[in-house]
Amino acid sequence: MNIIRANKSHLNTAWKLMQQLFLPNIDCYWCHKDNVQREILTQRVFLLKDKGVYKGLIELVYVGEHLQIWALVVDSKYRKCGLGEVLVDFAKKEMVRGNFKGISLLTMLQYRVTKFYERMGFIKTGRGQYDNRAYNEYYFKKEKYENNIN
Ligand SMILES: CC(C)(COP(=O)(O)OP(=O)(O)OC[C@H]1O[C@@H](n2cnc3c(N)ncnc32)[C@H](O)[C@@H]1OP(=O)(O)O)[C@@H](O)C(=O)NCCC(=O)NCCS
Repeated sequence: MNIIRANKSHLNTAWKLMQQLFLPNIDCYWCHKDNVQREILTQRVFLLKDKGVYKGLIELVYVGEHLQIWALVVDSKYRKCGLGEVLVDFAKKEMVRGNFKGISLLTMLQYRVTKFYERMGFIKTGRGQYDNRAYNEYYFKKEKYENNIN
């Protein structure tokens, strides 16, 4: 299993995975293939490949002193097998490598992933509203990772 940086040859693969992030009746940024291509060109999209199959995707954006997870998805055929955790662990390693203070993310309530992020060591830091949709904000502090591995 490995995680690779997506390049333009992976557009269809990334697009297929991104489609699993679509919410009913909501036109989001990632709902447009040209935007997915744009994100790939910024070099911040990563794909998890296992036994020759692309099974998951994570997008990491570097914002000031923090790393942000902009997209995270595991193909529905391969969920609940630990791959989501592998992708989040990758983000944590990137956080350490880039000397970021922590990882932040926003997640729309419709995704129902509160337990997943809490299980990954994130804490809820706030709640907001975007385009009439409610979201939760989560944060993971670097110290938590360092304390776990030492
Ligand atoms: C959220 C998501 C990435 C998790 O991926 P996954 O590969 O199924 O997660 P894992 O198998 O690594 O799960 C890790 C732990 O979280 C738990 N977990 C996973 N998804 C969960 C969920 N939706 N609700 C509650 N717990 C969950 C697992 O049971 C596991 O706990 P355990 O180790 O105690 O058994 C995947 O469900 C997904 O792609 N969902 C659709 C897109 C999405 O919601 N993305 C996040 C929006 S920002």
